[in-house]
Amino acid sequence: MTKRRRGSLAVFPGSFDPITNGHLDIVDRGLGVFDRVRMAILMNPEKQPLFSVQERVALIREAYRGNSRVEVDTFSGLLVDYAERVGASVIIRGIRAISDFEYEFQMALMNRRLNPQIDTVFMMPAESYSYVSSRLVKEVFQLGGRVSGLVPPVVEKWLSEKYGTPIRAGRVRRKR
Ligand code: PNS
Repeated sequence: MTKRRRGSLAVFPGSFDPITNGHLDIVDRGLGVFDRVRMAILMNPEKQPLFSVQERVALIREAYRGNSRVEVDTFSGLLVDYAERVGASVIIRGIRAISDFEYEFQMALMNRRLNPQIDTVFMMPAESYSYVSSRLVKEVFQLGGRVSGLVPPVVEKWLSEKYGTPIRAGRVRRKR
């Protein structure tokens, strides 16, 4: 069994627009290794997010209400500078498939070059989330598809409010 490192803090950075159950799965795995996981939302003026940074912070807070080991923050500028500033020596990133790997590997090596004191740890979510992304969740929901089980209930509620469309109820169709 993995032993948690005492007093350790890992930063889990991302856009989280919005948070998915795949992200939650990674956070849970991170909590098995580190004392605290801080989700750090990049403030990127070049992107046009669906949810504002404040809304994304609120969604994460709601998803982790009562869990003091999960923190949420925003940052701009270099990720390694942020990690150093908050006293984190590890960056967590999720890898869903080999297709994620190339970009993540490049970022990890660049971050290591920028600050060799900070390591990147890759974590794999449960296979059931291997196809889940914030982008797909938004697209499916907007087109009337069902996303329950892929995002926390509060995200589904807010998606419904954003797009002005109802939450699609019912069971997922069985594969024949
Ligand atoms: O969820 P995303 O959009 O894949 O997250 C990407 C993120 C936020 C991890 C990445 O864009 C980032 O770290 N940006 C901060 C700027 C930075 O440090 N750039 C150099 C990375 S090698």
